[in-house]
Amino acid sequence: MSAETTQIDGNEYTKVAETDEIENGRGIAVEVDGIEVAVFNADGEFYAISNRCSHQHAPLCKAGEKKINADHTWTESRGGVNAEECTVSCPWHLWEWDLETGENEASGQRIATFDVAVEDDNVYVRV
Ligand code: FES
Repeated sequence: MSAETTQIDGNEYTKVAETDEIENGRGIAVEVDGIEVAVFNADGEFYAISNRCSHQHAPLCKAGEKKINADHTWTESRGGVNAEECTVSCPWHLWEWDLETGENEASGQRIATFDVAVEDDNVYVRV
């Protein structure tokens, strides 16, 4: 099955979800043209960023999820979206990534971010 695409401002975008499929404060993982992307909903604003943290490659889409620990205890949530700061913190070691620029200020590292468009309750990403 081919991905649903649309032209927006002369660029091709790929549909990744409907808006109500990405809960506020959470993310999903999608693959667009072979690239693993995490798409987050931060208070109704949608952001697309590489799904892999550059530290030890944790999947950023898991930010804010319940997590099992090494001693088989559970942490209710680990990492997550901060809509006010427009960041997501990694679920593994809490590095904080700017959802607009892909920067982690503490390390000086940057991961890829992608353009997002919302039309007719559909979320589109351009890689
Ligand atoms: S893997 Fe993301 S902070 Fe370590």
